[in-house]
Amino acid sequence: MHSKRLVDESFLVLEPLYSEEKVAYLNNKFDNIFSKQDSARRYVDALDMYELGLMDDIFTPKLMSLIYNVIPNPVLYHCHSYEIDGLNSSPHIAKDNFLNGWHRDIDCLHNLNDNAIQHVSLFIYLTDVGNEDGAFEVCNKKFGYFPGLFQSSNFYRITGKKGHSFLFNRTAVHRASPNRNEIQRRVLKISFQSKDTIMPACDPSIKSHEKRINMLKVQQLVPKKSVLLRSLLGDKNIGDAEIKQALEEKINGESIQVLNTNAKYKIECKMNVLQEFRGYAKDLVFIKNLIIYKIFSRKTRRSL
Ligand SMILES: [Fe+2]
Repeated sequence: MHSKRLVDESFLVLEPLYSEEKVAYLNNKFDNIFSKQDSARRYVDALDMYELGLMDDIFTPKLMSLIYNVIPNPVLYHCHSYEIDGLNSSPHIAKDNFLNGWHRDIDCLHNLNDNAIQHVSLFIYLTDVGNEDGAFEVCNKKFGYFPGLFQSSNFYRITGKKGHSFLFNRTAVHRASPNRNEIQRRVLKISFQSKDTIMPACDPSIKSHEKRINMLKVQQLVPKKSVLLRSLLGDKNIGDAEIKQALEEKINGESIQVLNTNAKYKIECKMNVLQEFRGYAKDLVFIKNLIIYKIFSRKTRRSL
């Protein structure tokens, strides 16, 4: 499904996956959980969603069809909603990285020999997101053994109304632009990767791993008949034949329209020579770490 565009341009805009009514319904359910948190970045995680009775509302046949089309052997990596404060003059993540927040997600353990899509995030905006509202921005700076340069790459700012839906290739350089307006920006984020891609182990002592640990709890709670969802949540007892049958029964005939609108989101973003150097150096460090991780994990597997 348009995989080459997702690799080349780093994102794909989709038809809105939820109606306005669905977005309002989700926001209404999430409000109470968000309102109890006072950090600058607040979350509703998969366990919250399960306890709110929202799994079927979120994982519609259309959304399932999308996930299993993009990556045929998928497992979830993120499943949460989050909102960020307004009245900010800088990005809410990696703002001090001397690249104005532009970064690659280093928790993704990509296979550098494989140019196919390995790890994708689906974003659905739950608030209207204009130019000043913390819009997601992405750059298609090439990744691989020989990374590209900012100056030969395109930059995009993805704005859209509530329900606006898009995929983002998680190997790409990206950032959230500053949310300068008063309104909190809220999104639903569902990341998924191939079961063959190495996933960093969950560590309960790391705060940011709590959401993945809660996803595993949901896996235990989801009814047995929800084969596709349980498999997505990492249930290893579900075989390919069972998944194939469930796909035929549950999502046969569902298709998602990919919009041919990427060009309209293009923005100018000039990086100076120092930033270009920094970006390249960061890529080289990232690549070195991936190679070391790969060698180490191969040795570990051999010794098991
Ligand atoms: Fe990121």
